[in-house]
Amino acid sequence: MKEKIEQYLKEIDELTASTKDELEAFRLKFISRKGVMNDLFNSFKEVPNEQKKEFGAKLNVLKEKAQSKFQELIEVVNTASSKEEAGSIDVTLPSFTNTGSLHPLTKTKNRIIQIFERQGFSVAEGPEIEDDFHNFTALNFPENHPAREMQDTYFITKNPDTLLRTHTSNVQIRLMEHGQPPFRSIMPGRVYRNEAISARAHCFFNQVEGLYVDKEVSFKDLKQTLYHFAKEMFGKDTQVRFRPSFFPFTEPSAEIDISCFICKGDGCKICKHTGWVEIGGSGMVDPNVLEACGIDSKEYSGFAFGMGIERITMLKYQIDDIRLFSENDMRFLSQF
Ligand code: PHE
Repeated sequence: MKEKIEQYLKEIDELTASTKDELEAFRLKFISRKGVMNDLFNSFKEVPNEQKKEFGAKLNVLKEKAQSKFQELIEVVNTASSKEEAGSIDVTLPSFTNTGSLHPLTKTKNRIIQIFERQGFSVAEGPEIEDDFHNFTALNFPENHPAREMQDTYFITKNPDTLLRTHTSNVQIRLMEHGQPPFRSIMPGRVYRNEAISARAHCFFNQVEGLYVDKEVSFKDLKQTLYHFAKEMFGKDTQVRFRPSFFPFTEPSAEIDISCFICKGDGCKICKHTGWVEIGGSGMVDPNVLEACGIDSKEYSGFAFGMGIERITMLKYQIDDIRLFSENDMRFLSQF
């Protein structure tokens, strides 16, 4: 029995445990009622009386040693398992992984607004469901003129006088008919045209219109305003070119081209090897338009321009398919 106690003491000294199973095995052997201690206490009864004192003391030492070792092993095993759990969690991950971002068209629109606001333009908005007067007649489109068809209008069948606006120029009229110059506003918004949907065209898209009406506004104001815009939007080396064009509501009219900021004018796929890309239309407000809004065209003059927000965004980020803007594909949207 003496040897047995010595052997157990040694065993306890040398023992280590790192898993819960090993800890449980120790408990069963040295702590539980059915373990070795029970056997030892049972055989204690048979120890001759004169040796009881010595054996009793030894048994107590063994019991205490087993208890304190058990506490020690509990600590070791617990810290090992909490480390293991912590290892499977990356505490450096941000708590929100999907915070969303602005749509690329919103980003472009906001930037355009910022550039023009710094030049004194305010932001105005108007209805997308419009009447013929504000979308066409007041803008100097003659009655039954093919120009009305040029824009592939969606008419509302129940009321042919109502349509989905084909351009943001309706907001020019809505601004001017209710006030007197000066007007200096930009007007962003969605427009609709009955076009076959392809990589380059959609049946709805966004434009930003600009209007400046005051005394002695001239073509040079138009040019300077758009020069400044192009440099701010596309880079300070950007050149602007005006090509003669026609719109019923402006005279003279001009298409706005900017030098291709991708190839710097050398010629590439984006500019179709011309060195120039078109971004919109512009011109001096036709006196008939001013008069239709009750503004004296002898006293006041103005310029207007209209640009495609999708077009500008596609150029800026080199996006080659306009349909991506309305498909809500996260793989596309999360890049902005
Ligand atoms: N409204 C024209 C269009 O949609 C653009 C434009 C606006 C042209 C203002 C000149 C002046 O094509």
